[in-house]
Amino acid sequence: MSDVVSYQREDEIGLIVVDNPPVNALGHAVRQGLLDALDQGLADDGARALVVMGAGRTFPAGADIREFGQTPKEPALPDVINRLEDSGKLLIAAVHGTALGGGMEITLGCDYRLALDSARMGLPEVNLGLLPGAGGTQRLPRLIGAQAALDAIVGGKPMKAGQLEKMGVVDKVVSGDLKAEAIAYARQLADDNAPRRKVSELTVDKESDTVFSDYEQSIARKKRGFLAPFHCIKAVQAATELDFAAGQKRERELFTELLNSPQSAAQRHVFFAEREVGKVPGIAKDTPRREIAQVGIIGAGTMGGGIAMNFLSAGIPVKMLEMKQEALDKGVALIRKNYEATAKKGRMTSEQVERCMSLLTSTLSYDDLSDVDLVIEAVFENMKVKKEVFGELDRVTKPGAILATNTSTLDVNEIAQSTRRPEDVIGMHFFSPANVMKLLENVRGEATSDEVIATVMDLSKRIGKVGVLVGVCYGFVGNRILHKRQAQAISLVNEGATPAQVDKVLYDFGLPMGPFAMADLAGLDVGWRIREGLRESDPANAPERNWLDALAEQERWGQKTGGGVFDYAEGDRTPRPSEVTAAEIEKYRAEQGIETREISDTEILERCLYVMVNEGAKILEEGVAMRPLDIDIVWIYGYGFPVYQGGPMFWADSIGLDKVHAKIQQFHDETGHDDWKPAPLLERLAKEGKRFADL
Ligand code: 3HC
Ligand code: NAI
Repeated sequence: MSDVVSYQREDEIGLIVVDNPPVNALGHAVRQGLLDALDQGLADDGARALVVMGAGRTFPAGADIREFGQTPKEPALPDVINRLEDSGKLLIAAVHGTALGGGMEITLGCDYRLALDSARMGLPEVNLGLLPGAGGTQRLPRLIGAQAALDAIVGGKPMKAGQLEKMGVVDKVVSGDLKAEAIAYARQLADDNAPRRKVSELTVDKESDTVFSDYEQSIARKKRGFLAPFHCIKAVQAATELDFAAGQKRERELFTELLNSPQSAAQRHVFFAEREVGKVPGIAKDTPRREIAQVGIIGAGTMGGGIAMNFLSAGIPVKMLEMKQEALDKGVALIRKNYEATAKKGRMTSEQVERCMSLLTSTLSYDDLSDVDLVIEAVFENMKVKKEVFGELDRVTKPGAILATNTSTLDVNEIAQSTRRPEDVIGMHFFSPANVMKLLENVRGEATSDEVIATVMDLSKRIGKVGVLVGVCYGFVGNRILHKRQAQAISLVNEGATPAQVDKVLYDFGLPMGPFAMADLAGLDVGWRIREGLRESDPANAPERNWLDALAEQERWGQKTGGGVFDYAEGDRTPRPSEVTAAEIEKYRAEQGIETREISDTEILERCLYVMVNEGAKILEEGVAMRPLDIDIVWIYGYGFPVYQGGPMFWADSIGLDKVHAKIQQFHDETGHDDWKPAPLLERLAKEGKRFADL
């Protein structure tokens, strides 16, 4: 008898129940258990029909992802599902929770599908760099046509029971007690002598001859660089060209190719890393959390407004404070404008807009913040101003209120010291635009309490962010690494590359844009003002004036002024090489006496990425990031590092740390630059033949 799949009979109906917490994943024991339970059900003369369902929170949520990469063990899931479909008895899937991947594929091997109204089903394999490999690409198109199957399989998004009923995937939606409903439905079908309905025996409705090439074209930009979406299309196409058995063979080949690809390994790493970042060593499930029912935000500028929207959208009331009524009005109006733009695109109703806006109040008085549970400060990036704000917050907020700063460069410990409760102070570093970007670096100060960390990490999830806990240092994890990469990009241009060449190499690697297009988006004036400030306050240590300063001085500030490193045509964000920039670069090289040389794409990639890996290793050693996977997630969600490369640290592991270290050492020998001084951690791992993942 299987521990994870049981068979029992109730009211002339045989129940096959998968019980493998937490999500009833279809590991080896479950697959074998399903076959055994099926045999029992088939041999049970008292059972007029069989129902497959999940115990606990869900119908099986897919194959056991942890088994991928290990030697496969029989029985394979496609064979299990084929056996289910070929069995002699009427088979009904009864779904609750999330029937995903292999779980949904099981339902497609059944004759009828019943679902709770709260259930969702889908084929999300594409998000793991895979395709549905247990008949899903062959059965779903037979059931709903090629176009709709492509949407489901390439899109990878779970769908609601009601929607699936309309599409003809689910036969009946019920509410209440699923088991009772399933038994009643199965009895009804048996009484009615309902026909067997093998999906594999249906023919596929192919809407047009160009459905596949059109689909490929429609995703070309969005899925640039990804392998799996295009393999998914090929597999669905096979369903329209081959008989079921041959189609399933083709599906298997394509699935195996993906399973063995570095992309799927990277995407599976990201799946687990995303879940792991929420787990902070030392913070337990029973660490007390504070209730966050109302939030205060100081500063209604670029960041304050975006931050407020996260809470409003999650149904959490916000009080926003500014110095002047005018700034407050401007901030509130911008929030409304953003919501209304979303509504215009059909992604929100006007009632939802009003509901969000009704949760927002504004004030000029700190005294109004006496009842909030959390305050996030987003005022000018100036230590003196921040200290004054935190002094005020310390005075007015209730005991136990969490005081957070959105600073991107200042010392959270120093800010905390301006209060009498540094244990309640934490950094919450949102990324711009704060209502859109999923990353949230939560910055733990020396004194921040576990309770505050646990509360803020949970809250991140509640407002739809991926919260990563980091330590205090200049730029934290993301921007600290970014600065090193930007410095390399500039050096490469100084030495002979063009900005367009550097950008193309990183774009082709899979990043959403290159370093210089990114600088143009952020605004060249931002860095220029900081450098100018340093030149005034600390001339001895100030950075030398370079061609980027020259561009900023001409008010070439990037996209917003129609030109920066690149030129931009009116209303078009495509970067175009600029003659002004080329002339400034030439001038700078001449002033510095730099003799240019040909720079290869390989050198560009290695210098821009290896410097990130080296800095990442230093960050790990200092404990600013807890684990390599935290750095990977910061870069994936904060900067669009390609998911299929797994993040910079995973990527370095895939190259081999010995190789990465040797090259970094070579760059250090050549330049003597501190950024290339190999991180001792990297050196050690390389010597020991280990990976970051082994830490
Ligand atoms: N295999 C192994 N472990 C899984 C898993 C799976 N398919 N799905 C979830 N888990 C684990 C998670 O890692 C997590 O483990 P942890 O507690 O140790 O961190 C635990 O189950 C709970 O998961 P979540 O924290 O994600 O719980 P949620 O309630 O937030 O979400 C879920 C539940 C919607 C099912 C979500 O976990 C999910 O999307 N899972 C993946 C579903 C999926 O991709 N299925 C397809 C698999 S590939 C496949 O089926 C191939 C086939 O076509 C051959
Ligand atoms: P901003 O200049 O757009 O907004 C700052 C707002 O704070 C202004 O509206 C100003 O009136 C208000 N303000 C200043 N002093 C105040 C005080 N004492 N009391 C109340 N309100 C006050 O600046 P932005 O870009 O929103 O930045 C805010 C903070 O967020 C800074 O610490 C910055 O480093 C950080 N940050 C900025 C990011 C960005 O991309 N803009 C990204 C991540 C963090």
